Parts: sequence; structure tokens; C-alpha cells
Amino acid sequence: MTTIRLPMMGLVVLIGTTGSGKSTFAATHFGPFETVSSDYCRGLVADDVNDQSASTAAFDLLHHIVGVRLARGRFTVVDATNLTRSARASLIALAKEHDVLPSALVLDVPTQVAIQRHQARTDRPFGVDVIRRQRAQVPRGVGALRKEGFRNVYLLDSEQEIADVEIVRTPLLNDRRDLHGPFDAIGDVHGCLSELLTLLDRLGYRIIRDDVGRAVDAEHPDGRTAIFLGDLVDRGPDSPGVLRLAMGMTRAGHAIAIPGNHEQKLIRALDGTNVSLRHGLELTLSQLARESEEFRDDAREWCRELVAHLVLDDGNLVVAHAGLKEAYHGRASGRVRAFSLYGDTTGESDEYGLPVRLPWAEDYRGRAVVLYGHTPTPTLDWVNNTLCLDTGCVFGGHLSALRYPERETVQVPAERVWYEPVKPLAPAPEASPARRDGQLDLEDVLGAHSIETSTIPRVSVRPEQAAGALEVMSRFALPPGKLAYLPPTMSPVPASTREGFLEHPDQAWSAYAAAGVREVVCQEKHMGSRAVVHVRRDGEEGAAYTRTGRAFFDEPTTAAFLDRLAAAVTAAGVFDELETDWLILDAELLPWSLKAVGLLQEQFAAVGAAARAGLAAAGGALDLAAARGLDVARLRESTARRAEDAAAFSAAYRRYVWPVSGLDGVQLAPFQILAGAGGTYEERPHAWHLALIDRIVAADPGVLRPTRRLFVDLDDEASRAAGTQWWLDLVGDGGEGMVVKPAANLSWDAKRRLVQPGMKVRGPDYLRLVYGPEYLSHLDRLRDRNLTHKRSLATREYALGLESLRRFVAGEPLWRIHEAVFAVLALESEPVDPRL
Ligand code: CTP
Ligand code: MG
Repeated sequence: MTTIRLPMMGLVVLIGTTGSGKSTFAATHFGPFETVSSDYCRGLVADDVNDQSASTAAFDLLHHIVGVRLARGRFTVVDATNLTRSARASLIALAKEHDVLPSALVLDVPTQVAIQRHQARTDRPFGVDVIRRQRAQVPRGVGALRKEGFRNVYLLDSEQEIADVEIVRTPLLNDRRDLHGPFDAIGDVHGCLSELLTLLDRLGYRIIRDDVGRAVDAEHPDGRTAIFLGDLVDRGPDSPGVLRLAMGMTRAGHAIAIPGNHEQKLIRALDGTNVSLRHGLELTLSQLARESEEFRDDAREWCRELVAHLVLDDGNLVVAHAGLKEAYHGRASGRVRAFSLYGDTTGESDEYGLPVRLPWAEDYRGRAVVLYGHTPTPTLDWVNNTLCLDTGCVFGGHLSALRYPERETVQVPAERVWYEPVKPLAPAPEASPARRDGQLDLEDVLGAHSIETSTIPRVSVRPEQAAGALEVMSRFALPPGKLAYLPPTMSPVPASTREGFLEHPDQAWSAYAAAGVREVVCQEKHMGSRAVVHVRRDGEEGAAYTRTGRAFFDEPTTAAFLDRLAAAVTAAGVFDELETDWLILDAELLPWSLKAVGLLQEQFAAVGAAARAGLAAAGGALDLAAARGLDVARLRESTARRAEDAAAFSAAYRRYVWPVSGLDGVQLAPFQILAGAGGTYEERPHAWHLALIDRIVAADPGVLRPTRRLFVDLDDEASRAAGTQWWLDLVGDGGEGMVVKPAANLSWDAKRRLVQPGMKVRGPDYLRLVYGPEYLSHLDRLRDRNLTHKRSLATREYALGLESLRRFVAGEPLWRIHEAVFAVLALESEPVDPRL
């Protein structure tokens, strides 16, 4: 039995003549999708697996499929004869391009066997001399194939050997997804043994010493594992001591380690290679000279065996000394190793002679947390999902650790400056100063993409929607860092069948009852503009913006507005109660005219004025005609009714218009507390939200306005009737209407579908503004409206809104928050009946 070991992150190239049994072998040992065959590709492009004229196209396709699979990290086998060097070279190039290991498997059967098999086949319409020619091309030596670039080469040169094969798929050395920690990742130690011992102690490790008092191990009582992120040695006072401890810990299973560039160079120095004795290596070598030869050898071999990067915890954590871009996680190649050890550099040097590094972390979009060291930085700052833990201990900074998965940092200060830095410990050199964390990438939002949300699995955005949103976002909206949320659209109730009503509470009661909701809250619908307010206790850095992310006020007015809100929230004790220094509120800002003055003047006022003037003149003319005895009674009647409609239309918008100056006359009516430091609040019942909001409003009724509300028990006929009457009173007064929501807030129906978070029931007079002054004369036609799309849009936008808030609260990188915020705006460009 021959055991063949094939790396899981790899490409396997079968080599053999026709009839050597490649396809049979592949079918026996590999999955149906793992094998990509040239025959199959010929079939796909030519409907004929033997059409040699289709070979170029077939191999194009084969290379494409193999490339896509390798990019996705899938184990892939190529079933083709692969007898020419150039055929193999193109496959090796593919493996290299995707940083996976290529293996060659040669199936070599005697020509006679292949010929016999060939003659038994009806699916190969060519002569046996093809086989003879091919046989001469079969590579016979392992060495030659290795030289071509294959990492593993297996020659199977008899039928028996081919039949007796056992295939074992081996994980790469960097694949430690089976380790789950919890971990304590420690940044560059550089021989600072004393600080390391202090740090381990602070992390809760018990230091174990040998009989002469040297630290040889450290163990955590909770079974935690330390991770050394490389650069244990050089520059500091006791590199051998640090090595001894790290070696002891890794061998006892109390730590894992990856190499840094300094270990790399130390190995070469200990190997006797001529390396320049700079950057503290000279100190390490003189310290090591005082150790035994045995220790030096042991240390060198320990360093040599370290794997350049590790993928841990089911792929959720990646560690590499200089960090690692996502495309390289779990891969193996020279450039992956170089990136792990040295980082990605531009090839240029800065004014201190240090390499200029490319800002890979700012472009990082991966899900895995990446922990690394290498570049001393004064503070610990998460950049996207990555953290550099090198805080320059040896240069007089700190030795730092991160507890994973807790994400808590622990630091100890350097006891002194052990080594003068070439350049002052300052923020990392910027290859591109404009690109810092928080800088977004167009690729994040443009084109077709989808966003995974915790409420509904995924929300798709089409390219044209994204393009529309980009226009609004880049030209009119506040900077993305200020927009943690955009509010969703809301569907109205289904059309009423009652005489004189297009919308009526009946449909809200029945729709929610059908979804299994037992109690709803009816909230007065203030006629203003939807507003999101991010208010901070200190009054700084907040924002007040519209549903498309535009600021309502200029900066000084915004600051004054937020100050007043902050004072009200503070006075109401709500910051303290929710243990937060900030809140994001969903609200309505009044008057409507504040934002919509153009719309009011150019459309509503103009239509109203023209209708009133025109109909008054028509009425006058009809009066004269009637006085002359003409029969215009019906026309007079309908003109009079139209004049009433026009008057009602003008009255409907005028009540939402009042002058403001600065903040005078501005009122905010919050109706939901979206999020604070402690979390998002969509699962708190509306009664909880409204009670807190009432207290905030009471603290400054000048600028804040309460939201009237009524709770309705849908199982109780009298309660429904009271709800209907409440709405009739609201709209009878010309009010805009109400919004009905499940009293419990976020709700699911019996089939685990998200229930509409709210439905609007607008009043008959207000609807004149939407459907026209005389819409009540066309009710039959207007009732025929389809809400399906609007409701689906409302649900998707709601899920996106929650998602962005959750990401914001969790401190996720800006691009992750913005992705969801941006998608809300993108969905808003869907062509939906704007009157809904
Ligand atoms: N075959 C066999 N015994 C084996 C292997 C293969 O009898 N141990 C037969 C198969 O059933 C098939 C023929 O030999 O009829 C060729 O085998 P196949 O696996 O198709 O060979 P390939 O190398 O894939 O040939 P080609 O390059 O023509 O696709
Ligand atoms: Mg075949």
C-alpha cells in the first residue's frame, strides 16, 4: 500500500497517457467536483469530449475553473494528460497565483496495458500510435518534476501500485483551526524578559522556574494559551531568557509561537551564514555566547520549526508577525511567508532608512481577527479587524497583550529604554497618509453585492441602486463616520373598503392580528421630517440628520441643538440609567417647512393657490350664468365641491408650516431609542421607549415634543373601537394620522418571518397632499394599490438599519457599519409607488 499525502490547500496534477487510468483513479479517490477534467471542459465548449480543435477553449475554461476553486481555497485535481512541460507549467503558475501547493501524481502503466484498454474503448476515436507517442513523454524522474515546481511528486508505475494507493489529505502546518484558546497574544518582546514576566503575571500566568531560578515555563490556571507574535529576540537585555521561557511554554502546550524577522535572521547567523550584525542581533549573539552550545542549537531548531502564520479558532483568528492580508490566510507560498515575516513594503525607504510599509490593514475586509506586531506603534488601535500589538517595549514603550476572544488589552510599561530607536516611537509611517481607518473604499459599496444581517439572512443591492446611493452619499450626506443609521421606509395599511376612507385603522388591526400580534401601540404621526439624532453626553461629535443623511442645520445650530438635547437626556437621568454616554434616537423634526420649504412653496402652495383662484373665478362665472337663467346647477355644485377640496388641501399643509429662526420654533419628537453603549433596543417594548422619552421631553418641553399614544388590545373589540375613535379624533382635527406598531417591538410571526415594524394609517385630509385635492372622488381606482413591494422594502431596510446599529455598538470597523447604512439608501432608489 502506497500512502500518498496531498495538502488540502493544494492543486493535484494527474499525469499519464490516455488509458493510463487517470479518470478512473480520480473517480475512486476524489469528489466529483474536486476533479476538473479536460474532457469535461471540451464537452462544455464543444459538445464533444474528443474535439481536439476545441482544446484551446477547453483549457481556458479548465484554467478558469481551477483558478476560481483555488481562490476559494478548494482542493482541486486536474484530470488531463499533462504530458507537456508547458501544460504543467500553466497549472503550477495557477497554484502559485493562489498560493497553494502543487502536487504531481504520475500514473504510468506499460504501453501494452494502455493499448489493450484503448482497444476496449469505443469513446476514443484515434489510433494506438497516439499512446506510443504519449508514453515517450511521461516524466520518469521525481527530481525533474520537483524542479518544475511540484512540492510533492508521486510516481506510480505499475497497475498494482496504482490500485494499492491510499490517499491522505494533510492540513497545512499553518492550519490550526482546531485550537480555540482562549488566547493571550503578546507583541514583540525583543529580549525584555522582565517585562514579559510582569505581563504574564498580569495576565494570570503562574511562572515556573528551574532549580537555578530561571523561568522555564508559565501556566495559566484556566488553561489559556499564550501566543508569541514573533521577534522574541534582539535589542533587549535577555534574549536567551525570553527564548528559554517561550520554548518551555510551547513545549508544555502553554503557548504557541510564530517567527518574526529577527528570529529568521538569528537562525541564519547561528547557521553560520554571513549576516550583518545590526539591529540588536549583535547583542543576542553575545548573550547566547554565554549559553551552552546545546541551548544554542536547541533555540535555533525551535526557531526553525516555527510556522510563519497560523490560522486559529475555526478560522476566526489569524496571527502573523507582520500581519497578513485575507487572500493569504491559510495559504502557503514564498510570498505568503515573506508577507508574514516582513509585511508588504513599497520597496522604498523612509528618511530613517526603514522600509515604507503598505497599509494592508486599512484595506483589510476579512472576518478573521488578525493579530500581529513588527511595527512599533505608541498606542493599540484596531484598524478594521486587525490589531498591532508591538508597542515598542524595547524602545521604552510598553509590552502589550490582547485577550482573545475577550478583546481586552493588557499592557506593562518598559522598565527603561533598552535600545535607542532609530526613529521616535510615533504613529506608523504612512505610505498613503490619506488612507487611515475610517477611510472607505468604493469597492465596499459599488456593484452588485449583498449584506448579511442578523435579522434576515441577506439583503441584495443591485449595481444601479448602489450608483444612485453613491451620488446622494457623496454629494449631500454627512461624512460616513457620522451616520450609524438611516431609517427604513414604512408601508401604509392595505386600502380600506369603508366609504370615504382610503386608509383606516381596521386594516392595521386585522393585518397585525393575522401576524399573531396581540397588542399594538398607536403613535401620533407628527407631520415633520424623519430625523435621526445622535446625542452625546458631552455634546460633542453628535449629529442630527434626515433620512438621506443630510444635516438639518448648519454646524453652529446643530451644536446648539445637540447641547440642549444632551442637557435634557442628562437631566432626565437617562444616560446614567442606560449606562451610556450616547444615544441614537429615531424622531420626527418639526416643522415640516424646515426641510421641505421648497416643496411647500413650489408645489403645495402653488397648486392650492391656483385651484382656489381658478375655481373661485369659475364659481363667479357660473353664478352669473345661473342669474341669467342658464341651467348650470350640476356644474355649480361640482365646482363648489372642488373649491372646498382645494381649501381643505391648503389647510392640510398649512398646519405643518410655521416660521423658525435658529432653533426657535424647532421641535423634536423622539419616538424610539435606537441604541446606546449597552446595545440596541429594538427588543424593548414601545412602552419602555415612550416612558424614557416622556422623561426626556419633560426636561425640555421647549425643544422637545411628546408623542401621543394609545395601546390597543387586538383581542378586545372595545379596545379596537377605542383605537379607531382615537385615530378619528386625531385626523378629524386635520392631523396626519398615526403609526401602528407591535407593542412588544421587534416581532416574528408563526413562520418566523419578521412582522412589519410599523404601519401608517394616514388621515383623509392629509392624503389630499399625497393623492391630490379631489382624491376622494376617485377612491375606487385608488384602492387598487399593491403593497407587496413596499412592505418587502420596509422589512429589508429595517433589517439593514438594525444591522448597522448592531455593528456600530459592537465597535466594528466603519466600512462594516457604512455598508449597511449605504444599502438602506441604495434600496430607497427602488421604483416603488411614491404615494405609499
Ligand atoms: N481501466 C481499467 N482498469 C483500470 C483503470 C482503467 O480497465 N485500473 C479502463 C477504464 O474503464 C477505461 C479505460 O481503462 O475504459 C481508460 O481509463 P481511464 O480512467 O478513462 O483513463 P484516462 O487516463 O482517463 O484516459 P484518457 O486520457 O483517455 O481520458
Ligand atoms: Mg480520462
